[in-house]
Amino acid sequence: MLRTHTCGELRAEHEGQVVTVCGWVDTYRDHRGVLFVDLRDRYGKTQLVFAPEGGEELLAQAKVLRGEDVVAATGTVAPRPEGTVNPKLATGEIEVRANSLAILNKSRTPPFQPTGPDLPGEDTRLKHRYLDLRRPKMQQTLLLRHRIVKMMRDYFDELGFIDVETPMLGRSTPEGARDYLVPSRVQPGMFYALPQSPQLYKQILMIAGYDRYVQIARCFRDEDLRADRQPEFTQLDLEMSFVDADDVIGVIDGLMARLAKEILGQNLTLPLPRMTYDEAMERFGHDAPDLRFGMEIVDLTDLARSVGFQVFRNAAEGGGRVRGINAKKAADRYSRKLIDELTRFVCDDFAARGLAWFKVDAEGKLASPIAKNFSDDSLAQIAHRMEAEPGDLLLFVADRFAVTCKALHALRKRLGSELKLYEPGALHFSWVVEFPMFERDDETGGWAAMHHPFTAPRTQDTALLHSSPKECRAQAYDLVINGMEAGGGTVRIHDSKVQQKVFELLGIDEETARDRFGFLLEALQYGAPPHGGIALGLDRVVTLFSGGDTIRDVIAFPKTQRATDLMTGAPGHVDARQLKELGLNIPH
Ligand code: AMO
Ligand code: AMP
Repeated sequence: MLRTHTCGELRAEHEGQVVTVCGWVDTYRDHRGVLFVDLRDRYGKTQLVFAPEGGEELLAQAKVLRGEDVVAATGTVAPRPEGTVNPKLATGEIEVRANSLAILNKSRTPPFQPTGPDLPGEDTRLKHRYLDLRRPKMQQTLLLRHRIVKMMRDYFDELGFIDVETPMLGRSTPEGARDYLVPSRVQPGMFYALPQSPQLYKQILMIAGYDRYVQIARCFRDEDLRADRQPEFTQLDLEMSFVDADDVIGVIDGLMARLAKEILGQNLTLPLPRMTYDEAMERFGHDAPDLRFGMEIVDLTDLARSVGFQVFRNAAEGGGRVRGINAKKAADRYSRKLIDELTRFVCDDFAARGLAWFKVDAEGKLASPIAKNFSDDSLAQIAHRMEAEPGDLLLFVADRFAVTCKALHALRKRLGSELKLYEPGALHFSWVVEFPMFERDDETGGWAAMHHPFTAPRTQDTALLHSSPKECRAQAYDLVINGMEAGGGTVRIHDSKVQQKVFELLGIDEETARDRFGFLLEALQYGAPPHGGIALGLDRVVTLFSGGDTIRDVIAFPKTQRATDLMTGAPGHVDARQLKELGLNIPH
């Protein structure tokens, strides 16, 4: 080892010891001929002192040091002089009085200083990721990720799960995104698909009798990217045999309790709260409700039928809904101008046709330009339903149910953040269960699987597959943390007839089913145990536990919104020979 100690290790108790530390030059300053250098590694920072007493040659050598040079310095640990102790630094009581210095590698002037006050834009950080990853925040996050993965592996090992790897080169798994395809050289014109998840393999493992499977699995999905989506991401993936939804939920409850305790010191009460999908949509307008604050959606459709305000009455009479939220004590915060801005927000981005609002005055009366369209009695009833108190701001959307959900969810999310209705650090966990089996596919007008095509209906809903697929509820469950879908899973179909019926409803004809999933349909006929599982988005879980905003910050080498890697330049061109070998012909 070149070093005797790391840069985060030395304390007052090491005084008098001769040590060697290695690291990157963080800062350097010349103070009346004495040179102070902060040396940094991933453990911390240590102050090196180069004084004239150490000799002119050493001082001259130290004077050429610049930010990000890599050095090894040897010297004696000494207490810092009175008044210069830095209580903010773990090593702040000492300094190392250097008597020799080796410059291991000079750095070019870096495009940004990893610990400097001004972080450059994300593109620069991603292009020079090696500099960005030197930032203490990034290092803490990757360390946290490591700890979380370790705790997960330990937890599942204790419960008797076994880790099995599944192929990257396989056939398409229908998780609802586009596939990344890999051309075959050996069979020109044929393609592998990178897995959108190990879904089919883990089901096959259950049929093979493996009972409890877990994997930290890489998944690939070619879809539109956002802050919480990457084209290549990681799942904590698991599957269990002879279980129902409660069993799978229970295993994840236990995992969350352990992570929350070990990482945040937060004691979770188990079981974690659950609500059905229908309840989530009614109360929060979304299937991943943020339960860190109230501001629940209130339905006024029944009242709306008898008011003078056309917008409300027409919606209610036309089969739509009139729903609203109460932003407590927010009337003063939102001027007319800001309310106009909220109106544009719900109209432009969430297809609402307007935003009706009232401010609650000091007497508890509802005031608004539209108030004249309501009788005093209706206003009083609205106020009562909304639990209105002086100073509150009431906001309503009248529309189709789906539009009211989208608009009010977005509004609630925005107001919750603007009004700071929750503590930044704490995590709130819950489950949403009993999702519909199917949703309408906007493109084809047919049914699409809400989770994936292998999801079992609730036992009591099996008949609905034939009579009313719309009403059919699934044995499905999503883990929601702070309003983010952290994971999702289902109990699977283990009967090939039910599986065939679901394919049929999804418009997957027999031939396609046989071609794409024939192996599963066949395997289901050779003694398939009842089974179910779940996958958590590991990147999302780490983001939530680290208090970050985007999963890009918890992935060492993430891709941009355009799915490019700015450091390596992927995706890139390939040469003509490679294309030819693969039998690919790309028009220019
Ligand atoms: P699902 O498609 O819901 O289920 O994915 C499970 C979890 O993976 C995370 N996730 C993502 N994270 C980052 N970037 C993405 N592009 C991305 N897509 C999904 C989410 C999500 O909750 N095979 C099933 C699981 C099962 O049924 O067992 C599946 O993949 O946190
Ligand atoms: P208008 O009748 O279009 O002048 O609208 C009067 C008020 O009702 C305005 O504040 C609109 O934003 C609001 N409004 C219009 N349509 C809707 C709707 N579908 N839901 C809620 N508010 C609406």
